Amino acid sequence: MSFYITTPIYYANSLPHLGHLYTMIVADTIARHKRQQGIETFFLTGTDEHGINIERAAERAGRTPKEQADYVVNYFKQMTAEFGLDTEHGGYDIFMRTSEPFHYEGVSEFWRRAARAKTPKGNDAIYKGHYEGWFCAACAAYKSEDEYAKPKNPGDPPTCLIHDMALDRISEDSYFFRLSDYGDALLELYESRPDFVQPETRKNEVTSFVRGGLQDLSVSRLKSSVSWGVPVPDDPEHTMYVWFDALTNYITAIGFGNEQQNRAVGFEKFWPALHLVGKDILRFHAVYWPAFLMAAGVEQPRAIVAHGMWLDPNGRKMSKTLGNTIELDVLSKHFSVDALRYFCLREMVFGQDGRFGYEALIDRTNSDLASGLGNLSSRTLTMITRYNSGRVPSGVISEDKLLLAKRTGVDTDATTIAGFIEHARVQYLQQLETYSFSRALEVAWSIVARMDKMISEAKPWELAKDVNQSQTLGAVLYRAAETLRWLCVMLYPAMPGATQEIWRQLNLSEKLAGMDPAKLKWGELKEGVPIGEVKPIFPRIDKARTMGAIGQNSEVRSQKSGIGGQKSEVRSQRSEGETDGPSLRAELATESAPSGTHATEADAVPGAPQADATPAPPQHATEADAVTGAEGVANFIDITDFTKVELRVGQVLTAARIPKSDKLLLLSVDIGEEKPRQLLAGIAEHYTPEEMIGRKIAVVANLKPRKMRGHDSQGMLLAATVGEDDKPVLATFNEDVPNGARLK
Ligand code: MSP
Repeated sequence: MSFYITTPIYYANSLPHLGHLYTMIVADTIARHKRQQGIETFFLTGTDEHGINIERAAERAGRTPKEQADYVVNYFKQMTAEFGLDTEHGGYDIFMRTSEPFHYEGVSEFWRRAARAKTPKGNDAIYKGHYEGWFCAACAAYKSEDEYAKPKNPGDPPTCLIHDMALDRISEDSYFFRLSDYGDALLELYESRPDFVQPETRKNEVTSFVRGGLQDLSVSRLKSSVSWGVPVPDDPEHTMYVWFDALTNYITAIGFGNEQQNRAVGFEKFWPALHLVGKDILRFHAVYWPAFLMAAGVEQPRAIVAHGMWLDPNGRKMSKTLGNTIELDVLSKHFSVDALRYFCLREMVFGQDGRFGYEALIDRTNSDLASGLGNLSSRTLTMITRYNSGRVPSGVISEDKLLLAKRTGVDTDATTIAGFIEHARVQYLQQLETYSFSRALEVAWSIVARMDKMISEAKPWELAKDVNQSQTLGAVLYRAAETLRWLCVMLYPAMPGATQEIWRQLNLSEKLAGMDPAKLKWGELKEGVPIGEVKPIFPRIDKARTMGAIGQNSEVRSQKSGIGGQKSEVRSQRSEGETDGPSLRAELATESAPSGTHATEADAVPGAPQADATPAPPQHATEADAVTGAEGVANFIDITDFTKVELRVGQVLTAARIPKSDKLLLLSVDIGEEKPRQLLAGIAEHYTPEEMIGRKIAVVANLKPRKMRGHDSQGMLLAATVGEDDKPVLATFNEDVPNGARLK
């Protein structure tokens, strides 16, 4: 059995940051899990090196495009080694580069096959035509009217909704891929293989995009406009569109179209792959790529699994322009690899967006790792050293000592704890199979909590004082040590470094990388084995000192450049206690009024107060609290007024723009009712439908329905208004919350 997993290949125009690292951490975790199961696994990552954006970056840096790519690749390789993600540390198997000669050969063969093919409707799959339109160099994507913002000054180019960058006007001869003929075939594919696009919400997004009708795709540029690319076979005046070239890396890397590479890896052996991607590039993977593969007659991928995006602590997208990206050198300097891996997997509910803040990372490291797993490990092993001469004790309590043991409150039935941990293992593995890393780790930490409780209640330090209780003491310590052994095997894919260190301290020799957690049996830790040297696994992080040090490196830098000083009504979640708290505003669901005001009936009345004049809702949990914090608040509402508003957690199932409306998005939102609600939200200038799908939002559920542009709006979502142009920033949740949960 074999398994092939890929990350996207990263643009070689700039250095990687947390977003890139995250996909690799997830892929690495999945790959290690598969390897533990004895499945031959091939894990690919790499760089996407062609195209206008790389050409431009190279020019700016005074390098050739190849030198630019080499520079980024060097950094990438150095970083992947530092983060334990390279081959040497048991991570990726191949670092793919699209500038490799074998890739040129493979992708040319792929093009030739597609160019010879007929579409399902009997037309040529690739044809020559003329392209006229807008192109975003950063997305490497052609932009239709609903994907760009119109310029503020007439005559200027429009800007990309994702990158806020001026688009390039293109008017040139081009080869086209006849994507418009593949709509039905793609829909059939999604229907016949329900797991093809995951998670479910992403599948809905892709399906509705395809249902909306597909346009043919320009798949080449004139060599005179973009020279840094793979020449189109038999027409070298054209270079291949960078996505056609880049997506094909997944098959050329394992030998498609190149005998030598095929011998080295084995296309037949590993294809089809599971593609792990960010939701921002889902369309390329779930629509264009399958259509290209259909044309070239190559089997479809195993699945396309999309994760959400890391936002900053204020919920803003991370971008170089905003200066809020998380740089890898800062992370590697201040945090252990495993703490970072744990945080990324635990904090982000897979598939949804998550927030990344250094404070949150420090807090989690200290609470879950230093005080949690790390503490369990060092207290267990230290007590074994102290009370049992550093040897694993026997876990057995003999018949004659049972009553004595019972009196201390220790559960004498050894199967209780074994049953608990076996059950937790099943749940843990189930969650891993569906990429629910956060849940899986939660389950694993329920084991840590259970052990901590057992130790605190049994008080081994008291038992050690009574020779008659030596068996009870041994049983408690054995259970804790055996649990550590299980945790090491289970958690190895998520935290390879820390688990191997605990393993070493347990003095176990088998390779964790090859141990299947499903095959663990309770009680296989051998009695009498001397344990290794005990060392702390996760030292506590001094928050103030580390934040100070990081500030000098990065956060202060971004604040100095004006980013931190931006007018914003929503403060960092972690600093709520230190400020007047966030002011949540209901986002306007109307076209006429400016964004950021309430979409209530009252707002429609001329002269009604604007949202900006509305006092912030109280932040207090009780009326008594409210009184103590009263100063400075102009108009109080009673708690009963507040409870009139029914606020619920919702999840966006579908999202679409409304024809002829720049501002409105039409959403269907699951708020835990039998049927989803339909909502209109005036956020289209700031959020794309793709970004909205799958997202958890706060919804006013008992707002009187109203009609806008012919559509019913059955509620309202909440957003903060930020900056001078009142940019909406959606209220969302850091933890996993069920749809329909009430906010109060
Ligand atoms: N070169 C293309 C992919 C071609 S694959 C055939 C590309 N490169 S990228 O460098 O821009 O992004 C690569 C991946 O990094 C994407 O999956 C993207 O989602 C991910 N991330 C970039 N920023 C991110 C966050 N802030 N958060 C999470 N992942 C993010 O697209």
